[in-house]
Amino acid sequence: MNMTNNGNSRKPLLELQGVSKVFNKEGKDFLALENVELSVGEGEFVCILGPTGCGKSVTLQIVAGLIEQTSGSVILDGTEEHGPGPHKGMVFQEYALLPWRNVIENVEIGLELKHVPGNERHRIAKEQLATVGLSGVEHQRVHEISVGMRQRVAIARALANSPRILLMDEPFEALDALTKEEMQIQILKVWEATRTTILFVTHDVDEAIFLSDRICVMDINPGRLKKVLVNHLPRPRHECMSRTDREFNEMRDEIIGLYSSLKDEELDLII
Ligand SMILES: Nc1ncnc2c1ncn2[C@@H]1O[C@H](COP(=O)(O)OP(=O)(O)OP(=O)(O)O)[C@@H](O)[C@H]1O
Ligand SMILES: [Mg+2]
Repeated sequence: MNMTNNGNSRKPLLELQGVSKVFNKEGKDFLALENVELSVGEGEFVCILGPTGCGKSVTLQIVAGLIEQTSGSVILDGTEEHGPGPHKGMVFQEYALLPWRNVIENVEIGLELKHVPGNERHRIAKEQLATVGLSGVEHQRVHEISVGMRQRVAIARALANSPRILLMDEPFEALDALTKEEMQIQILKVWEATRTTILFVTHDVDEAIFLSDRICVMDINPGRLKKVLVNHLPRPRHECMSRTDREFNEMRDEIIGLYSSLKDEELDLII
């Protein structure tokens, strides 16, 4: 077992090796991320959990290639990554759909950029909309559908590019509790159907436990990986698991215990 695999038992798809990030804040160096070592397996669902400002988004943006690390390497499929690309599908809290396009045209955007012919584009987009449970609304405008549906469109858009990995930064945070739960079930169904590797950022403890194979618990000041927990809860979770189960609670207690040195106001996790 190598040092960086932190409990990953699968073939590694994504590896972060000694990734650090220093920002310049008001003329001073600020260490946002310190020496992150992480391996994400092919087909795995990994959550990054931590309080606000611990570097979750910075980590994801480095993997996405949107910002560059100060030191260390990001390796995808054995190759060192530089910059963004359609093989890294991104879904953020703001779903960033184009309001002047209808649903299916939004899903087709990435395929257009790759010059995929119209018929083929349409077929793939329709298929991905079905994957996220959105058949029948292809020609509706973005403002005509609910916020939960918009987030599904954003997921379908990312999936349409056949990404090697899906990067999700608090994608359900802006949704009401019921819609959020529906979307958590939906993303598990998508993951089970497509077996796409997912790296998912959240500060909601229950969300991380419900979704993940492993949870990367992050620490703050400086932002770093505190511990990686393997989540042994049985799957499929949406059919057999209740958030009041004993194992679920044990995992929640373990995570909260890891933050026992932080004051409540610093913690800022949804528990
Ligand atoms: N472009 C930037 N320039 C300077 N500092 C930055 C920049 N981006 C992030 N930071 C700082 O890096 C730290 C980590 O930020 P990050 O956005 O990753 O936090 P987070 O864990 O995603 O928090 P949240 O839960 O609030 O989204 C913060 O202190 C933030 O202010
Ligand atoms: Mg963030």
